[in-house]
Parts: sequence; C-alpha cells; structure tokens
Amino acid sequence: MSAPILAARGITLTLREKPGTFILEDVSLSLARGKIVGVVGGSGSGKTTLACTLLGFIPDAMCRQRGQVLWQGQDILAMDALALRRWRGACVSLSFQEASSAFDPVFTVGDQIVETIMAHGAHEGGGRARARERALSFLSLAGIDDPRRVERCYPHELSGGLRQRAMLAMALCTTPSVLVADEPTSSLDVTLQARLMELFRKLRRELDLSIVLIAHDLGMVRRLADELVILSRGRVVAPDHPDARALMSAGEM
Ligand SMILES: Nc1ncnc2c1ncn2[C@@H]1O[C@H](COP(=O)(O)OP(=O)(O)OP(=O)(O)O)[C@@H](O)[C@H]1O
Ligand SMILES: [Mg+2]
Repeated sequence: MSAPILAARGITLTLREKPGTFILEDVSLSLARGKIVGVVGGSGSGKTTLACTLLGFIPDAMCRQRGQVLWQGQDILAMDALALRRWRGACVSLSFQEASSAFDPVFTVGDQIVETIMAHGAHEGGGRARARERALSFLSLAGIDDPRRVERCYPHELSGGLRQRAMLAMALCTTPSVLVADEPTSSLDVTLQARLMELFRKLRRELDLSIVLIAHDLGMVRRLADELVILSRGRVVAPDHPDARALMSAGEM
C-alpha cells in the first residue's frame, strides 16, 4: 500500500478541566492519495472532534492531546502557526458540519469564496476577475445550478442545502489534496445526497482528491469509502459492534 497522505496515530483527547473524561481514545486513521476513508458514528461519538484534530484545530488550553497527526509523514503539530495556516486550505480543507458557522454573515457568499481564492493565490495571479470566475466554477462544481445568483446572496438568504454546497465550493476552491467533509449531506434531501456522493466520486477520479467523509449513516458511507472507521464513544469499534449496526439506515440491515 502507498504511504498515507494524511494519518492520525493513537489520538487521545481529554478535557483539561475534567482529566478523566476521554473525548477520543487511541483513534488512528490512514488516508492514502485518491482514496476515501469514511468515519461513521452516532451523535457525540467524536466525529467532529476528530475532524478538528486532523486540521490541528484543537485548542491546547482546552484539551490535552496525545498521539500524532502526520501529513506526508510530518507531524503537523510541529509546524509553526503560519505554516499551519498555509497548510490548511492549500493542502487540507475542512467543510464544516454547520455551514452557517463557516460563513461570515455580513459578506456575500461569492465575496467570501473570492477572498479565500485570493488569500491562497489560487487565482494564479489573474486578479479579482479571474478569482471570481474561479469562484463561479467551483459553485457549479459543487452542484449549484445558478451560481451567478448564489454568489450574490448573503449566507442567510440561502436554503440549508444550498449553503452546504456553497461551503463545499469554498473548501474546494483552493484545490487541496485532502478534503475533510463533516456530515456534508446532513441538510440535503435524498436526491441531492446522491448527487453529492457522485460529486465526491468525480473529485476523487478527476482531481485525485483524498477525502475523509464523516457521517452517521453507515449504509451511505459504505457505498463510497475505500476504508471505514467506526467510532463509538470516542473509540474505534469493529463493524459488528452493536453501535455500528444501529448506524445502518433503515432497510439496509
Ligand atoms: N468544547 C467541548 N467541551 C466539552 N465537551 C465537548 C466539547 N466538544 C465536544 N465535546 C464532547 O465530545 C464528544 C464528541 O463530540 P463531537 O461533536 O465530536 O461528536 P459528533 O460525533 O461530531 O456528534 P454529532 O453527530 O452530533 O455531530 C461529545 O460527548 C461532546 O459532548
Ligand atoms: Mg459532529
């Protein structure tokens, strides 16, 4: 097997104010280039915490963290703050579970994507007009049929499903090698869910994107993922664990 592009090794997180409580306990995960690793678990099992750990977002003041997150074999926690900020976006992007928390309410969706593109130099020196073209192309890539309307909207003017796809466009517009998608389909109807799953397949195929796909629906993730990590109460469990079986959507048991 090829060396992982992103890996977590024995991640253990405890709250500093409650040293005996584990949020994650000895969690490991390994993502190879162009692959999809599914992370599945019930509510409160630690999925979002793991996503934040993978991007180095866990505040040291709040949690004691053991284990390592390795980017191409390098420990990301050894990077300085500036290098870590550049690494996020350029190499790894997170699409948040709550799309409304990813956008600033006082700027249009289009302006925020354009700013992200320009901050990372992803418009290849072409100026604002070039960045805007790129923003529109990523909005349509993310499955938005009328990108010119959506880019002029403020986040609150969009439906939950549109906001989620716009956030995905923002996460992808810097062409990272890895996307960590935290419950990307939770506010989409079944048809849009299927479209988004198809999009993930396409991104993997055409851009060689590696994806950590987080969800609570084991049946959906299993159709797409090359590997699965099942979380229960902060620990990795086997697929035949009772909590894992409970995560199958109705009719797939
Ligand atoms: N800042 C915090 N302070 C205290 N406990 C926290 C904090 N953040 C998360 N937790 C606890 O850590 C556990 C895991 O939470 P997390 O949000 O990672 O779960 P999740 O699997 O993403 O759940 P969901 O499916 O509802 O999104 C929960 O028990 C939660 O209460
Ligand atoms: Mg979560």
